[in-house]
Amino acid sequence: MERRPIIALDFASKEEIIQFLKKFPKEEALFVKIGMELFYQTGPEIVSFLKSSGHDVFLDLKLHDIPNTVKKAMSGLAKLGVKITNVHAAGGIEMMEAAKAGLIEGTPTGEAVPELIAVTQLTSTSEKQMHEDQLIPVSLQESVLHYAKCADKAGLDGVVCSALEVAAIHQATNPDFVCLTPGIRPQGASVGDQKRVMTPADAKKIGSTYIVVGRPITQAENPYESYLQIKNEWNGEK
Ligand code: C5P
Repeated sequence: MERRPIIALDFASKEEIIQFLKKFPKEEALFVKIGMELFYQTGPEIVSFLKSSGHDVFLDLKLHDIPNTVKKAMSGLAKLGVKITNVHAAGGIEMMEAAKAGLIEGTPTGEAVPELIAVTQLTSTSEKQMHEDQLIPVSLQESVLHYAKCADKAGLDGVVCSALEVAAIHQATNPDFVCLTPGIRPQGASVGDQKRVMTPADAKKIGSTYIVVGRPITQAENPYESYLQIKNEWNGEK
């Protein structure tokens, strides 16, 4: 099946999203990412809107709370019909298990349970910050791999990670473990504030399951053209 890059819809309002989506043919079913900035302003309505327009949604809310609260929140989110959602692995195995149970409980009969993935260490966290703020004495890489193993143990589908970590994560878990990777830039594109980037073709080669691409598509002069180029590269057709 043809794979679609997930477009990070990092816009400030629903109106801006509507304007952006007008640049794509109506029948083009996209896979989009909605984050907490927009969700907290618009509420679940933004998900219903995108779904009714024919798009699949990755709801990037990164839940992290006591297991009971996360379970109930996930049960509610499951009713929205998103394809992927996530939690922080730092919440612990019990919390991740509760999140998964909540998703299963809340998914309407006959519908697919959303894939649940974990955020390991945020890419904005440096090793120094991890040592000093979180008092975790190991290397950043060890912490990421440990969290990935915890997510696997808790029955989650995978993790959000840098494309550069995919191979090690697959080795630490299993080859089918979902690795969703942001920080993707087509050859020659502006890197922006991303520090460690990879091209769609390389992400495919190293085994990313999903790629998330924001600005190279949202800020492009012709977003549809840029999307198709990245999609083709992601599917191995240059
Ligand atoms: O515009 P750009 O392609 O850099 O956007 C990437 C998206 O992925 C943004 O929504 C960003 O917040 C998100 N993200 C990331 N790195 C992570 C996790 C999420 O860039 N480690």
